[in-house]
Amino acid sequence: MTDKALPIVVLISGSGSNLQALIDAIDTQPINAEICAVISNREHALGLDRAQKAGIDTHFIDHTRYADRAEFDQALMQLIDSYQPGLIVLAGFMRILTDEFVNHYNGRMLNIHPSLLPDYKGLNTHQRVLDDEQTTHGASVHFVSNELDGGPVIIQASVPVYTDDTPETLAARVLEKEHQIYPMAVKWFADNRIQLQGQKVFLDGAPLEQPVSM
Ligand code: GRF
Repeated sequence: MTDKALPIVVLISGSGSNLQALIDAIDTQPINAEICAVISNREHALGLDRAQKAGIDTHFIDHTRYADRAEFDQALMQLIDSYQPGLIVLAGFMRILTDEFVNHYNGRMLNIHPSLLPDYKGLNTHQRVLDDEQTTHGASVHFVSNELDGGPVIIQASVPVYTDDTPETLAARVLEKEHQIYPMAVKWFADNRIQLQGQKVFLDGAPLEQPVSM
């Protein structure tokens, strides 16, 4: 008998190509998970259309209508928790989260970041990598902690940086890798292969001394 599918809520703000990769991977691989809802803080996020096409519940929650970050996060938590998810997937969700929010989902919230963390936390990673004339770049999936882009990393994928790259060509190369590693990390979580214990990731019961690299 198969275990119950892991209920997932995905948070987005934009295009949702990582969301699409996850929808496709759950369909085809398969991953023992079900996306119950996709929530966006941007009304016209393309990712909401992607979710609707896949028959997933969607919600737009407008952060500008809340007095402050804490109030917005409370409302967001209530909405998320109405789905009783086992995993929260941040997929291009462009909001800084309160400690209360992060603590509430400790060990069951993942994020993907377009850099080889701990390098290049924050925004505009592709431009900054080019400015620094780096030859390698990539993406990381990590558990979310109270430090922005600072949670324990599960898996990373690298790409070469070419001298004629623009932020756009580099972003596209990185995104291709993101679409591979994010579903992979979600599958490991759904199969109970990864856990967060304190500030350490455990894979198959053993502490990960370094992120898995692809
Ligand atoms: C990705 O580059 C991801 O790493 C970052 O935001 C972007 C989201 O892209 N967190 P998409 O909305 O999944 O296409």
